[in-house]
Amino acid sequence: MTDTRPLLFFDSGVGGLSVLEATRRLLPNAPIVYAADSAGYPYGTKSEAEIAARVPALLGRLVERYRPRLVVIACNTASTIALAQVRSALDLPVVGTVPAIKPAAAVSKTRVIGVLGTEATIRQPYVDRLAAEFAGDCLVLRHGSAELVDLAEAKLRGEVTDPAAYARILRGLTDQPGGDRLDTVVLACTHFRLVEPELSAAGPFSYVDGAEGIARRIAFLTKEQDWPKAPEPGTAVFTRLDERVQALAPALAAFGLKRIVEL
Ligand code: DGL
Repeated sequence: MTDTRPLLFFDSGVGGLSVLEATRRLLPNAPIVYAADSAGYPYGTKSEAEIAARVPALLGRLVERYRPRLVVIACNTASTIALAQVRSALDLPVVGTVPAIKPAAAVSKTRVIGVLGTEATIRQPYVDRLAAEFAGDCLVLRHGSAELVDLAEAKLRGEVTDPAAYARILRGLTDQPGGDRLDTVVLACTHFRLVEPELSAAGPFSYVDGAEGIARRIAFLTKEQDWPKAPEPGTAVFTRLDERVQALAPALAAFGLKRIVEL
């Protein structure tokens, strides 16, 4: 019998679609449930306690409802704060998303790296540990931007965003001491890859994120498993279904998510 259990992707909003896209390239027939906590969006301006209380409970409900084979926390904020807690609460593989500081350190020539994430992510000790372990010889600048998360959501709703906003956000890195030598930017929030063309137009840096690495990890963890013979339309599940979510329907369909439901 074909194994129809889905991969369950989780984020506060549409950011995890960037991870889903990279995963689909490796596992085109994987059944997909994409869950977005629209009622809790945004995560980046919340406290550690709020995120730690919300994410494991929500994932517990989602796993009970959809019985996935694997969970992907396609959100740096939730992963850097709650990954260990989610893993201990769930009895299935959980793949997290952490800032791609290691690959950034591998490509930076000037040895000045910027970590662009949410405010909550960039203050995590997890980021200190990654910087110390993998970029010990680099200056690692950090900037948190809730505005960039909103810009990515707006773009996917089909709204036109202001090019000057991206340049202003990048100045949050380049205006710091040593920022004039910045050559590599870690997109440490899954939303940000969705606006990488706009960021590239505003600042000529190398942009690095973890999506391909996560996709390879998912393929590795499921390599003995059986998949349906053809791709099926995926499901997008939101914790609150309102007009902002409805406006995302065309973008979700472009990522293969044809059914939108409320949890
Ligand atoms: N996409 C999420 C991340 O990777 C968080 C965005 C937000 O809700 O602030 O950090």
